Amino acid sequence: MTEEILKISGGRPLHGEISVQGAKNSALPLMAAALLCEGETVLTNVPQLSDVYAACRILNRLGCRSTAEGNTIRIVRESAELYEIPDEDMRAMRSSIMFLGPILGSMKRCTLTMPGGCELGPRPINLHLDAMRAMGVRIREGAGRIFCTAEKLTGAKIHLPIPSVGVTENVLMAGVYAEGETVLTNAACEPEITDLANFLNQCGAEIRGAGTHTVVIRGGRKLRGTEYRVMPDRIAAMSYLCAGAAAGGEICLKDTAPDDMKSCLDVLEQAGCRIGVCGDRIFLDRTGPLRSISYIRTMPYPGFPTDAQALISAVLCTASGTSMLEETIFENRFKHMGELARMGADIRVSGRTAVITGVPKLHGASVTAMDLRGGAALAAAAAGAEGITYLSGLHHLDRGYEHFAETFNSLGILTERGTFSALEHTFSAANAKKC
Ligand code: EPU
Repeated sequence: MTEEILKISGGRPLHGEISVQGAKNSALPLMAAALLCEGETVLTNVPQLSDVYAACRILNRLGCRSTAEGNTIRIVRESAELYEIPDEDMRAMRSSIMFLGPILGSMKRCTLTMPGGCELGPRPINLHLDAMRAMGVRIREGAGRIFCTAEKLTGAKIHLPIPSVGVTENVLMAGVYAEGETVLTNAACEPEITDLANFLNQCGAEIRGAGTHTVVIRGGRKLRGTEYRVMPDRIAAMSYLCAGAAAGGEICLKDTAPDDMKSCLDVLEQAGCRIGVCGDRIFLDRTGPLRSISYIRTMPYPGFPTDAQALISAVLCTASGTSMLEETIFENRFKHMGELARMGADIRVSGRTAVITGVPKLHGASVTAMDLRGGAALAAAAAGAEGITYLSGLHHLDRGYEHFAETFNSLGILTERGTFSALEHTFSAANAKKC
């Protein structure tokens, strides 16, 4: 078998300092937004991830020349004739829907297919299509494809029934080339949206209010490519902080944006960690016992993020007392809980609620990442668990974490990546234990 796994030897307090990667969830919409620009767009601090390379492939199919060198991506749109996202690309990356706004904005037509369901449950695009309709786009479906066309895009008043991150981003990107003003209410406020608006404004757009629930886009500006640094990844930062919380010890993260992480840092403090912030650095010190948290509910920003729900659940497995987690954003985001139970966690899931009763220690086991953040949560749990954990399903982790094993090693967590056969000896032993 050629599938790679991670072998994580846990149970020792962490120490070390790491740099946090640029944000996946900002880099992807910024890459899509480059379609709107004349000339070259240069994005720096782009994390090296499979989703980023998938976005490069989509851009190249749409007539761009996108090249990646280290953490820099250069994008030039060489032809503006192609407006179809092939089905295999729509399926390869769930976030491919964010190309809809920029393709429509620049070409007034776009053909695509459904992104399909995903690990987190169904991923409907009804709100994306409704927003585009409000801007004058006609939408027809046939033979599994969705055909979107418009004579012109017109500014509109759009109220979102839920503050969707992706829909807010698509409206921003379509709105900059629409005629007149677009006013979006109940917009999502996530920091990645502010990053996108800052980029578009630097390219010549006029967007006000990003980061609040009302965003106003004055359309009709021509955009020129620019050089832009992707913001720090708040969820990657939270992932490494949760590893530190689970294992104990003292760690420092640099290149972070602590102001974007208030709800996450508050929750870590409630769980018994000492948190310090200095400029772009976050220090975590966890020497005492972990404490349970009676109730955490995932909410749109600035609430506690759904992307950090799995991560904090890994920490609470060994907190004294009972914690309750409610997932309000996605239907199916508890798949990691069963895997944590293999490591000795006491968790009961009922619908969108999980009740975690702390146990003194987790133990190493063979576990599988079922989705991106669930995979990182299992790795964080493994850092704190006694013994060796074998983590498979790494294609999920590769979508969102740059050099994950190396980063874990820099924090003092002994982590090896290799194929089953390379690690076979120890793997069989652990599997026998699991059976
Ligand atoms: N929704 C609809 N219809 C739509 C669009 C969304 O019903 O047309 C629903 C979704 O099914 C979900 C809710 O609205 O239940 C919120 O989804 P949202 O559109 O806000 O999420 P997204 O834009 O698809 C982004 C991140 C996710 C993150 C969510 C919520 C990117 C590329 N993805 O997804 O990140 O969980 O916002 O904050 O930005 C991750 O990084 O692991 C990840 C899943």
